[in-house]
Amino acid sequence: MKDRYLAPSLLSADFSSLREQVEIVENAGAKWLHLDIMDGHYVPNITFGPVVLKALRKHSKLLFDTHLMITNPDDFLEDFVNAGSDSITVHYETTRHLHRTLSHIKSLGIKAGVSFNPSTPINNDLIDYIAPNLDMVLIMTVNPGFGGQKFIPEVIEKISRLNEYLNKRNYNHVSIEVDGGIDLNTAPKVLEAGANILVAGSAIFSQPNISQATKDMIKKINS
Ligand code: DX5
Ligand code: ZN
Repeated sequence: MKDRYLAPSLLSADFSSLREQVEIVENAGAKWLHLDIMDGHYVPNITFGPVVLKALRKHSKLLFDTHLMITNPDDFLEDFVNAGSDSITVHYETTRHLHRTLSHIKSLGIKAGVSFNPSTPINNDLIDYIAPNLDMVLIMTVNPGFGGQKFIPEVIEKISRLNEYLNKRNYNHVSIEVDGGIDLNTAPKVLEAGANILVAGSAIFSQPNISQATKDMIKKINS
């Protein structure tokens, strides 16, 4: 079985004290931190950029899992790697030359991922062509842009199909990450379907006790 991780999404954190918020989830046992980069063009929301990653990098050993929801992601890969990203995921819908983009990310020495929106199909041939440069497929379980949205159950089948295909081809190096509406109720469903990296924003940072919410979710993921 692939290693399972919780990736708390900073999008729902208190932005007036990001460093402390990161420390809470790190001290509670999280190993990954999910960073949502939105540009107001590809998605109807704006968040933050490499400057914020760089500032947090000094205070955290978490794996910085960078989710680019921006047009022209190729223009910003070096900036994010220099700021401290350990993994960069681009949206399939934003790329012109996906193979080139993933190879570029890998050449910078970090993990590379590709993300698919709820309405975007995942083609098995496509997976074959990019597999050597691929560490992760991020399956969106909400439409990207905002935290706190409702999980889209139709996507569960997409997770299962991808998982079956990865197993069939022995692509054991490729993780399945899910993002959107993940909480203690939906987590078991996506784990059952084959996801092994679970992003959770509001289920962690919007809770009264962030530390306890992190511990509870990690326990659920590993149960
Ligand atoms: C949405 C982002 C998510 C978001 C998830 O576009 O990609 O990472 O933070 O938030 P929740 O877990 O609240 O759905
Ligand atoms: Zn995300």
